[in-house]
Amino acid sequence: MLIKAIEKSLNEQISVEANSSQFYLAMASWAETKGFDGVTSFLYKHSDEEREHMLKLIRYVNERGGHAVVPELKKPPKVFDCLSHIFQNLLDHEIMVTKKINEVVDLCLKHKDYTTHNFMQWYVAEQIEEEALARTILDKLKLIGDDKGGLYLFDRDILNIKIPNNN
Ligand code: FEO
Repeated sequence: MLIKAIEKSLNEQISVEANSSQFYLAMASWAETKGFDGVTSFLYKHSDEEREHMLKLIRYVNERGGHAVVPELKKPPKVFDCLSHIFQNLLDHEIMVTKKINEVVDLCLKHKDYTTHNFMQWYVAEQIEEEALARTILDKLKLIGDDKGGLYLFDRDILNIKIPNNN
């Protein structure tokens, strides 16, 4: 049985993952309107992965005798300035997600909930990869700058980048 404080914290994390999915969906939609086909596919997939992160938490909370609450979604931005703006937003967002996951882990240790602590290790590992991926992509975009040919190749090559999924 989950203690209430842990259940509350996991429910907050469910909301964070759901809103991550929503945020990346908005980025995907913007990229699609600009004709960046590779970035669009990457971001739709990333959005789906975030929904899976949310579902994994929902299933865990309910399995442990808690009640997972399906969260309200925030309206994400509609417009982004450029691809660098998208991926800077993505990196900043993932850094925030990592902070939230660390807070859940801290709480597990405080309450000696080693089962949830163990469950959360999947998320800890996932965040290392997601932040690294966002940094790598951003570095590439910084090198490319405004070069149209470079952006064309970036949009093609991003289809070969694997989004982390520790399943
Ligand atoms: Fe589920 Fe990208 O953190």
